Amino acid sequence: MIRELTEEKVFKDPVHHSVYVQDPIVWKLIDTPEFQRLRRIRQLGTSYLTFHGAEHSRFSHSLGVYEITRKIISQFERNGYADWPKEERLVSLCAALLHDVGHAPFSHSLEQVFGTDHEKWTCEILLADTGINRVLREADQGLPERIASVICKNYEQPIVVSLVSSQMDADRMDYLLRDSYFTGVHYGTFDLDRILRVLRPYKGRIVVKESGMHAVEAYLMSRYQMYWQVYFHPVTRSSEIVLRSIFKRARKLHESGYRFEFLLPPVRRLFDGILTVGDYLELDEAMVQTSFGQWTREKDPILSDLCKRFLNRQLYKYIPMEHLDETWLSQMRREWQNIGLDPDYYLELDTPTDLPYDVYKSEMKQGSPEKPPILLLDDKERLTEISVKSEIIRSIAGLQQGKYHIYYPEDMVVPHANRLSPDLREYLYL
Ligand code: NI
Repeated sequence: MIRELTEEKVFKDPVHHSVYVQDPIVWKLIDTPEFQRLRRIRQLGTSYLTFHGAEHSRFSHSLGVYEITRKIISQFERNGYADWPKEERLVSLCAALLHDVGHAPFSHSLEQVFGTDHEKWTCEILLADTGINRVLREADQGLPERIASVICKNYEQPIVVSLVSSQMDADRMDYLLRDSYFTGVHYGTFDLDRILRVLRPYKGRIVVKESGMHAVEAYLMSRYQMYWQVYFHPVTRSSEIVLRSIFKRARKLHESGYRFEFLLPPVRRLFDGILTVGDYLELDEAMVQTSFGQWTREKDPILSDLCKRFLNRQLYKYIPMEHLDETWLSQMRREWQNIGLDPDYYLELDTPTDLPYDVYKSEMKQGSPEKPPILLLDDKERLTEISVKSEIIRSIAGLQQGKYHIYYPEDMVVPHANRLSPDLREYLYL
């Protein structure tokens, strides 16, 4: 049986002021090595190269998601809503706390190059022989599996899944406020207290009381603003492209039998695609950046150059491409080769839709794993999808357009400008 802590524990937090821990199991989970590792992984990957304040970790975000979930459940319990299954409280809190435990260092870039999947790793960490697994099993043998199925979104109680993973869940609410706070971009704020008051459990899902519509509008506007101002910032994209080029080059070298002066075992096994849970948990941003520092002295000039660029923030320049023009891209690649630049690492087309974020989707496509839309509940117990009633939300729902950009190291191209075709010189303003 879970006993209460003799007194509740409190973490100071810049976003929520305080994070309250009342259950011994939550306290013990925070104390595990796997959860402590999240202190060494930044929430926003390479964004600190654009917004110098964006050094916050997945540890602080995870505590924040837990705290928002705790507040929502506490509101449901205080109001005695019959549609909230009370026995799910602990599963919900643990899932909220642990939802990001499987993130890798520079998660998004690493997933793109190596095809890893943080949700899959989260479940592996829950189910393998780890500190987290032991703490959960001690409380209840079936708990690791139940929490894993919340993370994989196939839990028997969909309302628990929607708390942690929906279009207005504790995860999104925390990262918007936290990312806004730490980047210093003030568009990202909205009235969290108001939203927490208007949420209702209703027939297996969480809905919003109709009078709360404007608070949800502000939340979705904040998503919209943060999307363009922070998550899709072209300088951040540039740093991600340099980072991906490093991973691609290092893996290519490794596959071709190149002997690294410095290659730590977990990184080698990442390249070989044979990571164990233990290896994965050893990977953190300190290890990746130490590797980059050492690789600046490798014999391979491309790897060494890319690592210096990343560490010293000599990023790629970007220019817009009005529409996707494959012929033009192939010509650029040929001209790059003519001046001795490998286009696989020094020329990148950035596709605007390639982001782990979306603003809001009002429809559920058949057979797709899309998250269900936000529903308003009126006083006659009728449900309406929110964009039907809100003009603001109607106008931003489904927005995904953005520009294509070409990224390249300007300093390596300029010295060879006279050998480029007049067309390309004009395009690059050379
Ligand atoms: Ni998260």
